[in-house]
This record gives sequence, structure tokens and C-alpha cells, in this order.
Amino acid sequence: MSESNAPAGDAAGGSPHTAPELTRAQLAATREEHVKLAESALLRADELVAGYVPGVNILRGCDFYLNDGELVGIIGPNGAGKSTLLKALFGLIPVRSGTVRLRDEDITSAPAHTLVRNGVGYVPQNNNVFPSLTIEENLQMGMFLRSSKFAERFDHVSQLFPMLGERRKQKAGALSGGERQMVAMGRALMMEPSVLLLDEPSAGLSPAFQDDVFIRCRRINASGVSIIMVEQNARRCLQICDRGYVLDQGRNAYTDSGRSLMNDPKVIELYLGTLATAR
Ligand SMILES: Nc1ncnc2c1ncn2[C@@H]1O[C@H](COP(=O)(O)OP(=O)(O)OP(=O)(O)O)[C@@H](O)[C@H]1O
Ligand SMILES: [Mg+2]
Repeated sequence: MSESNAPAGDAAGGSPHTAPELTRAQLAATREEHVKLAESALLRADELVAGYVPGVNILRGCDFYLNDGELVGIIGPNGAGKSTLLKALFGLIPVRSGTVRLRDEDITSAPAHTLVRNGVGYVPQNNNVFPSLTIEENLQMGMFLRSSKFAERFDHVSQLFPMLGERRKQKAGALSGGERQMVAMGRALMMEPSVLLLDEPSAGLSPAFQDDVFIRCRRINASGVSIIMVEQNARRCLQICDRGYVLDQGRNAYTDSGRSLMNDPKVIELYLGTLATAR
């Protein structure tokens, strides 16, 4: 969090001599608090620095953690680095400095297939189905490591998304955006992940489908899968998540329970207002 963004709020109840004081959500986003709170996390990132172009860092010291069983939302303006954070966690872009740990094992820059083996699933923001393959074939692609369990997992995933079972022979390219999203999530779930990274699962969907996606994410979470969800639909995301992060310019600027962030005047002013009017 940069100094210039720190408002002079008093929600943290700190000393009157330390100015500017941080709000509760800003304080929780500081490195010191992160280190305390992330102690027993399932997945954590510490001081992540990563980017695409040499010399240009998109993540600029990002801290993040996910506890076992949590659904954690990440919101923030366009270009803040939300998708980049998921890619860095999933080993899709090199981490320049900082660490990613899964159950205390250092997985920094581990290749995606290693992460999948270790129970991490990832659903990218775009191009997340094979359009020329059927629904069933798309789900088989998700099982390339453990094809012997296909029938059992297909049954499980079809219970979460009945459409996938009913229309298993249909080509994914013929599906609507919402249906493709179900295929992509279903494919990630085939490997029985313990952590799911979702990049904008509700993007481009009609309001009815958006609601459906959020309800399903909660259901998947309730079935024991810990979830990190990046979302542009910030209010809806904060409503359903256990905790949320506001990412800004490659750093976590605010973090708190979803409900508290939604009611934080600074978060509303800086992020929810603009995000709400932009959508
Ligand atoms: N493949 C890439 N090569 C170079 N720069 C990239 C690449 N992908 C993203 N960027 C840049 O990294 C920055 C962060 O992008 P990122 O996609 O992580 O943002 P985001 O927070 O997910 O935004 P959005 O809400 O629009 O999805 C942007 O400035 C973007 O232009
Ligand atoms: Mg993105």
C-alpha cells in the first residue's frame, strides 16, 4: 500500500500521534499484519513481484493468503494485476522475487502441471474451453493425469452442473458464455482440487447467469474446495466471499471480511463506486 493512498481515517483506533492512520482494512493489508494472519494458511504469497516485460513489474510486492475452506475474493480496477496474481500463483508467469507456498511447501514458479498434481485448479479469464471438442472431451482434458477416475468424477461434476451431463456430446463451441463457464469450471473440478483459482467467472454473463455462477461457487466451496475468485462484479463477489482483497497497482490495498469491505467508506469511494458505474 503506498503512502499516498493512505487516508487519515481513525477506524483502526490507533495512536493519535501516528498520522496518517490506517483504516482497519488498510491495516490488515500491511505486511506486518499479513505475516501474523497468514501463519496457518493453505496457500500464501509473500512480497510477490512479477511481470511480463523485462523491467516492468505488474505485481509489486503483493501479499495474499487463503485459509483452508475459505472463499476469498479479489477485486480492484482494470489493470490492477488481478489476473497476473492468479497466473503467478499458478506458475504461468515467472516470479521475479517473493514466494508462493502451498501447505508450507515452496511452490514459487512451479509449473502448472505440478500444481494440478498438488490439488490446485485454475480457470482462466478467457479462452477457457476447447470449442471443437464436446463437453465430455473437454472434461476428459481435465483428467489427463488420472483418467481411470473419469466416470466417478464426471458423475460428481454433473451433480454440480447437471447441464454438463445432459449435453455431454455437444460441442463446447456451440454453448453460450454461461455454459462455457460451467464447462471450464467442471474441467478444473475433474482433478478433485483442494484449491480453485477462478478468474472472472461471471464476466460477460447475463445477470441471471451471473447469479447462478456465484451460487455454484458457494456450493463448490461448501463441498470442501477452497476458492480464490477474481471478480469485476465487486459487490456480488464481496457479498458471497469470506474475505476479500482490493488489489491496486500490484499490491493489496485493503483486506477484510467481504461484508466489512463492502461497507468501508474508503473502499466504496475508491473502488465500488467506480466499479459499480463502470458495469
Ligand atoms: N501478456 C501480457 N503481456 C504484457 N503485459 C500484460 C500481459 N497481460 C497483462 N499485461 C499487463 O499487466 C497489467 C495487469 O494486467 P492484469 O490482466 O493482471 O489486470 P487485471 O487486474 O486482471 O485487469 P482486468 O480487470 O482488466 O482483467 C496491465 O497493465 C496489462 O496491460
Ligand atoms: Mg483480469
